[in-house]
Amino acid sequence: MHILAIETSCDETAAAVIRGQGEKIGVLSNIVSSQVQLHAQWGGVVPNLAAREHLKNIIPVIERALEKSKIASRDIDLIAVTAGPGLIPALLIGLNTSKTLSYLWQKPLMGIHHIEGHIYANFIGKNQKSEIRNKKSGIKFPILCLVVSGGHTQLIYMKNHLSYKIIGQTLDDAAGEAFDKVARILNLGYPGGPAISRIASAWTSIVQKKHKPDRHSMSLSLPRPMIGSKDFNFSFSGLKTAVLYLVKKAPVKLKDKKFVAAISHEFQQAVIDVLVSKTINAAKNYKPKTISIAGGVSANLELRKQLEKAVKKNLPHVQYQTPDIKYSLDNAAMIGAAAYFRWQSEKNKKKFINHWKNIEADANLKLK
Ligand code: KG4
Ligand code: ZN
Repeated sequence: MHILAIETSCDETAAAVIRGQGEKIGVLSNIVSSQVQLHAQWGGVVPNLAAREHLKNIIPVIERALEKSKIASRDIDLIAVTAGPGLIPALLIGLNTSKTLSYLWQKPLMGIHHIEGHIYANFIGKNQKSEIRNKKSGIKFPILCLVVSGGHTQLIYMKNHLSYKIIGQTLDDAAGEAFDKVARILNLGYPGGPAISRIASAWTSIVQKKHKPDRHSMSLSLPRPMIGSKDFNFSFSGLKTAVLYLVKKAPVKLKDKKFVAAISHEFQQAVIDVLVSKTINAAKNYKPKTISIAGGVSANLELRKQLEKAVKKNLPHVQYQTPDIKYSLDNAAMIGAAAYFRWQSEKNKKKFINHWKNIEADANLKLK
């Protein structure tokens, strides 16, 4: 079957056409129009500006997705759209456009949870037959997924497809939010994650080349919040405040590239230490067959590498699964992937033809 998927929950206008067959998903097109440069001027996403850009871009992005996929609209079997969580003015553009197309083309419409999309990015382009059907290959259930994005930090246990148990989450800021806030403190611009990770890796090579880092930079150390707590929750707001204090003590140091690089490195390492430690502890407790990651922060190469190393060392029999980097960041193919698995499990498929009348955008949609 062919799914046209649409995603506009934040600052990317995205459309994709995916093909689902058996338990496989192929991406025929995946168009993402980013508004990052626009929002960078404001230091973060401005909801109404985002909505205006989505409005300008949504039709061209959908047209390009269809064109590239070489699938005619009559051959689309389902339209999938992010219904939440996200910014309401932004969500509404994707939702109303897909409702219009659903009505016009007389195609079923399915609303998808943004985080479910991130999780299902792991199933794109791979043979993901579950163990129940095929013992030899693919992603095995149960899965423990570390979801790390701009709005979410959660450890989610999936006994099977579409079954979600949140076993831990952030009590304050999300990991991506912490990256973005710390980048702002360090004058590194928006979005913060890519900027901090770039500078952190530059710092690693400075140290590796044995250039002598200055004394102050060497003595930098930040807390690893909640790393020792017995639960699987997180807290990143204190870490951000710790960076703020360091900078407030000596604002002139923001001009010192080595200082900024050393802080970036230490901050990133503090976040990774907590994420890795909690994920491994949760896995020891819940005994999944697969550990996976999802969400924008999962594009971070150090996080990917260090979690992989920790899984191999502590849980050698557990499979480690990561999405392709382009599917870690916001995109519509992941929304299509989640919709495909939902569609497969639906008994009453007929009801989706009338969904254009009643799906609503929900800024705080819960994962069910
Ligand atoms: O999933 P996503 O694209 O949007 C949301 O659903 O929130 O995640 C965006 C977040 C931003 O906070 C961004 O700074 C962070 O992901 N991010 C990264 C990296 N790339 C994006 N954080 C750390 N390292 C990266 N390489
Ligand atoms: Zn996202």
